[in-house]
Amino acid sequence: MSEKYRVVVAGLGKRGMHHALAFRANARFEVAGVCDIDASRLEAAAARLGAPVKGTDARQVALAVRPDVFCFCTLPELRTGMVRVGIESGARLIAMEKPIALSSAEAIQIKRLLEESGVRAVVSHQHRYGAHYRKVKEIISSGALGRIHTVYGTATGWMMHMLSHLIDYLRWYAGEPEAEWVMAQAGGRGKLSDAHPSPDYLAGFIHFANGVRGVLECGAGAPDVPEVEYWWRKCRIGAQGAEGFAEVLTGGGWRAVTRDGVASGPGSMNYDLDMPPYIQQMADWLDDPAQVHPCHFESAYQGLEIMMGMCRSAVEGGQVALPLADGADEIALLRAHLTGKPVLFSMPANAKEYA
Ligand SMILES: NC(=O)c1ccc[n+]([C@@H]2O[C@H](COP(=O)([O-])OP(=O)(O)OC[C@H]3O[C@@H](n4cnc5c(N)ncnc54)[C@H](O)[C@@H]3O)[C@@H](O)[C@H]2O)c1
Repeated sequence: MSEKYRVVVAGLGKRGMHHALAFRANARFEVAGVCDIDASRLEAAAARLGAPVKGTDARQVALAVRPDVFCFCTLPELRTGMVRVGIESGARLIAMEKPIALSSAEAIQIKRLLEESGVRAVVSHQHRYGAHYRKVKEIISSGALGRIHTVYGTATGWMMHMLSHLIDYLRWYAGEPEAEWVMAQAGGRGKLSDAHPSPDYLAGFIHFANGVRGVLECGAGAPDVPEVEYWWRKCRIGAQGAEGFAEVLTGGGWRAVTRDGVASGPGSMNYDLDMPPYIQQMADWLDDPAQVHPCHFESAYQGLEIMMGMCRSAVEGGQVALPLADGADEIALLRAHLTGKPVLFSMPANAKEYA
């Protein structure tokens, strides 16, 4: 297939420009329209991208272009409205940023909108394209770890920034199982008022239907990853099996101990390397519905359920069964529940972000 897919990109900040430039660099796409409410940012991006249609109103731009792909990269408080714009514009695919929503109630609404319209969606959990992430998956798939019984993920960044990434890769390493229940604790109110509203620290467990156990920690109390210097890349994600383990450090390569011995290799999260295959697989999915994008919405939705289930567990106590039967506003529940007790840090460097 050689059809060129026309794209509108709304929200031209850091991630919007990553997306727009990656679409532009791919011969299968044409950036036909761009939008940002910040006029100077819009002008600069439109000039750089050579987009024929530009504007500060996403709906107007999308309806003028009627794109194949509607991509929006706004901060997390803007999701449902943008999904509606994408559907109304006639786009066949919506490309959005994580997290898919700020509550389970909103995530359920977006899921319904997509199901009712038949529009596909992808969510940018693009770290998985890193060579070091893929190496760990390859080792797991080769059977060199034996039966996988545990997957784990930690990040010192806070929940709405980091947890959907951790869950996505942890589920990938576990074989994309559905979760049956979660249980968690949370502490610290500081980041509840952030643009990525979150408890300062969240830690908990996932029981997956295939018997694999997931263990997660995210935020101020999560352990340091001393092998990695860059604070945002202090993430450790891995899998333990009956015969060994393998793990990736977002900013520090991979390592494994398998029945064949000890091995390690380099790698660090890199937008320039991770975006092109993420974008290419959108064309592949548009060309052929059978080539489902690995970052498809339904997978991210399951991740969101895990995240929100953990928040509910932190509020209600005990285990929370998944899938969630109904929607709630988990951040509001945390605001009402969490005391002013300050969060305790796992390392002094966290004081800068969580003070
Ligand atoms: N996948 C990743 O690795 C990754 C990394 C960083 C951020 N993110 C996510 O990307 C999203 C965006 O983050 P960012 O760092 O690019 O933010 P940003 O603040 O740099 O950019 C957001 C842009 O959206 C624009 N905007 C706001 N309201 C708008 C509207 N109604 N219509 C059009 N444009 C509008 C803003 O003016 C701004 O230019 C967040 O959800 C964040 O969590 C993902």
